[in-house]
Amino acid sequence: MNFMEKEKPIGVFDSGIGVLTVVKRIASALPNESIVYFGDTARVPYGSKSNETVIEYAMQDAQFLMKKGVKAIVVACNTASSVALDELKAAFTVPVIGVIEPGAAMAAKLSTGGRIGVIGTRATVNNHAYAKKILGLNSKLEVFETACPLFVPLAEEGWHEHPSAYIIAQEYLHELQMKDIDTLVLGCTHYPILAKVIQKVMGDKVKLIDSGIATSEVVRSELERIGLVSNSNALGRMSFYVSDIPSTFQKIARIFLEREIPDVQKILVGS
Ligand code: DGL
Repeated sequence: MNFMEKEKPIGVFDSGIGVLTVVKRIASALPNESIVYFGDTARVPYGSKSNETVIEYAMQDAQFLMKKGVKAIVVACNTASSVALDELKAAFTVPVIGVIEPGAAMAAKLSTGGRIGVIGTRATVNNHAYAKKILGLNSKLEVFETACPLFVPLAEEGWHEHPSAYIIAQEYLHELQMKDIDTLVLGCTHYPILAKVIQKVMGDKVKLIDSGIATSEVVRSELERIGLVSNSNALGRMSFYVSDIPSTFQKIARIFLEREIPDVQKILVGS
C-alpha cells in the first residue's frame, strides 16, 4: 500500500456539535490518525427532516470530506446512518462507516437482562434503525425505543447540566423507566453530552451505550483490514469545519474534547 494513502485523514461528519462526542472517541482510540471533521451546524437538526432531505445533506457532507482527500468516512450522525448509509456506501469508493451497527452490537453484547432501551431522534426511532440491528443479532432481546428531540437543542445550547435538562429527561425517559431495561443506547451523537443527566434519571443500574466508542473500534478494524492504518508515531492533525459557527461551539468543544479547537473554519456546504 502506498505510503501516501495511509497518511490520508479519516473524514467524520455529523449534523452539529454531536460530532465532538465521536471525534473524542476516535482521537483516543486512534491518536496517530489525522482527522477532518465536518459539523453541519447551519442545517442541524437532521432528526426532524424527511429521509430524502437527510440523504441529500449526507451526500453533500461526504462529498465535502472526499474533496479533503479522506481515506474513510465515518457517518457520526445516527440519523444519517439510519437513512443514508446505503446511498453513501454506493456513492463513494472509500469505506463508509455508520454508528448504528457498532452501537447495536455493543448493546446486544453487554445487555445482561435482555431488555434494551434506545433513545434517538424521531428519524432514528421511526426508522427503527437500532431495533432492527439489535434484533437481527439476537431475536430474543427486547427493544424499547423513545425519541428525545429536545435533547439536541439542550446540548447545542450547552445546557447539559441545566435544571431544564433534568426535567425534560424525566419526561422523555418516564416510559423507559417503567420497562425495567438494563441497557440504554444513546442513539444520537448529541446525547453523550447529556449522559450525566440521563444516567441520573435512569439510575446507576442501567448501562449507557455510547455508539462513538463502539464505532472507533470498527474504524480501527476496517483500516487494518484494508491496510490503511497510519504509520505515523506523531499525534494526528485535527481539522475542523462547520457550516456555521454557533456562539457556544468553542465552549462545548472545550468541555467535550478537553482541549481547545483553535482553528474552526466555516464553509459553505452543498455548493
Ligand atoms: N447528531 C444527530 C444524530 O446523531 C442528532 C441531531 C440532529 O437531529 O441532527 O442523530
